[in-house]
Amino acid sequence: MSVTTITHPLVQHKLTLMRQKDRSTNSFRRLLHEIGMLMAYEVTREMPVQMIEIETPLEKMRAPVIDGKKTVFVVVMRAGDGFLDGMLEVVPGARVGHIGLYRDPKTLVAVEYYFKMPQDMHERDAIVLDPMLATGNSAVAAVDRLKETRPRSIRFVSLLAAPEGLAKFQAHHPDVPVYTAAIDRQLNDHGYIVPGLGDAGDRIFGTK
Ligand code: URA
Repeated sequence: MSVTTITHPLVQHKLTLMRQKDRSTNSFRRLLHEIGMLMAYEVTREMPVQMIEIETPLEKMRAPVIDGKKTVFVVVMRAGDGFLDGMLEVVPGARVGHIGLYRDPKTLVAVEYYFKMPQDMHERDAIVLDPMLATGNSAVAAVDRLKETRPRSIRFVSLLAAPEGLAKFQAHHPDVPVYTAAIDRQLNDHGYIVPGLGDAGDRIFGTK
């Protein structure tokens, strides 16, 4: 499996601001939006292009274009929603699927409550968006379920990852490349990433 840490200074700078506990909901959300755009640049690097005939003011030429409709962003609700806007700004033609999972607070196991994908997944490249790769339980469950639809390819994007979650994901889905902005020290007893940034969903939506 490949893990790509996106070390671009713009991403790292914005992530540092997001980690600060006194950052407002508005600012946290805006930063995640911006990081989404920047990470989309890296994640779509291998996106297939096709050559089309165009005319510049001077002459005809063949030039590359991407087919955005072949991309499906798969949002793991609800924190994944925060990533989506920025990604869509860069790939506006993309389709969007949703997977709803909640963590059982006692067992930390992922339980599915929603699943909706576009049709013809076998023709699409799926990019799963889940900002926190913590225990890995929901990431593994989301990709297990997504694989049932047989997308052409799958990539997984998180903002922050814990070593434990990465190891678990790697064990279950060695074929799925992971992109993240940072790999933090560890999980705490409640399954939170430390030092981390707290509960991503609560910080995006201002629910705490
Ligand atoms: N989910 C979060 O939002 N934060 C964590 O640290 C772990 C899981």
